[in-house]
Amino acid sequence: MSIVFDQVSYTYGPNAPYQALNQVSCTIELGSFSGIIGHTGSGKSTFLEHINGLKTPSSGKVLINGLDTSNKEDKKDIRKLVGFVAQNPEHQLFAETVFDDIAFGPLHTGAKEEELTSIVEKSLRRLEVEPTAELLASSPFDLSGGQQRRIALAGILAMEPQILAMDEPLAGLDPQGRQQVLKLCQKLNNEGITIVMISHSMDEIAEVADHIIVMNKGELIEHGRVEKIFSEPEKLKRLGLDIPEASKYYFELKKRGVDLGDFVYTLDQLADAIAAYKVGGVDGI
Ligand SMILES: Nc1ncnc2c1ncn2[C@@H]1O[C@H](COP(=O)(O)OP(=O)(O)O)[C@@H](O)[C@H]1O
Ligand SMILES: [Mg+2]
Repeated sequence: MSIVFDQVSYTYGPNAPYQALNQVSCTIELGSFSGIIGHTGSGKSTFLEHINGLKTPSSGKVLINGLDTSNKEDKKDIRKLVGFVAQNPEHQLFAETVFDDIAFGPLHTGAKEEELTSIVEKSLRRLEVEPTAELLASSPFDLSGGQQRRIALAGILAMEPQILAMDEPLAGLDPQGRQQVLKLCQKLNNEGITIVMISHSMDEIAEVADHIIVMNKGELIEHGRVEKIFSEPEKLKRLGLDIPEASKYYFELKKRGVDLGDFVYTLDQLADAIAAYKVGGVDGI
């Protein structure tokens, strides 16, 4: 079971300077956490919109657990499997109360009235939000930006997706909010949800992802494990992309004769490697 792109091309029209997706092939395993990186205009959003069938290939195929996104009969099942988190998902909040907003999806896809309360509460708890009566009755528009984003995410989780396709889910949040939502994404992945996430922050991708897809001008340039992609800074530099801060320190220390051993890409790993560093049996740093 997986997400399969098979020679997928997509074009927005004859005037586009290049195809938004150009012969993209890849397999994303269920259960994984994939980060998509690339310049603005490289095709990241177009790629993501193919995962839930919001867009279908101009040529080629996208298969989700064997279901074809171009096949009308499969579309409904695919929409159930894949939760799509658009940029600024809180812009799509619309109902008068938090409860109604989260319950909207399940209500319209066959959940029974009496199940709604438990669905709404469970979805909020998965995002570490306490579903108090006051919150459920309040207008989503009276909440802070960070809270609104969680309500929007809860509405998507209420559909029990197996896959989350997320387009810069941390954009516009303050640093603390970014960390919180990032940790929640990691938690959801640990619970078994496959995540495909677009991000501009290499540090954040490094913290949560196990695989990375590198896009450039509609082409999939690389797809591999995080440690492989980030250990080749020259390749990324040529595409105008960066590596995580922790990896930069790793390479700078190496230049100065300090070899920390295994490659690192998160602050935690860097701190551990430095703490364990010894020269000739004597503590080195
Ligand atoms: N609605 C649209 N109409 C025409 N061209 C578009 C549209 N959306 C995106 N594009 C073009 O498709 C290419 C890929 O865009 P996109 O998938 O949004 O990239 P990214 O998310 O990496 O910034 C770009 O050249 C962009 O200009
Ligand atoms: Mg985009």
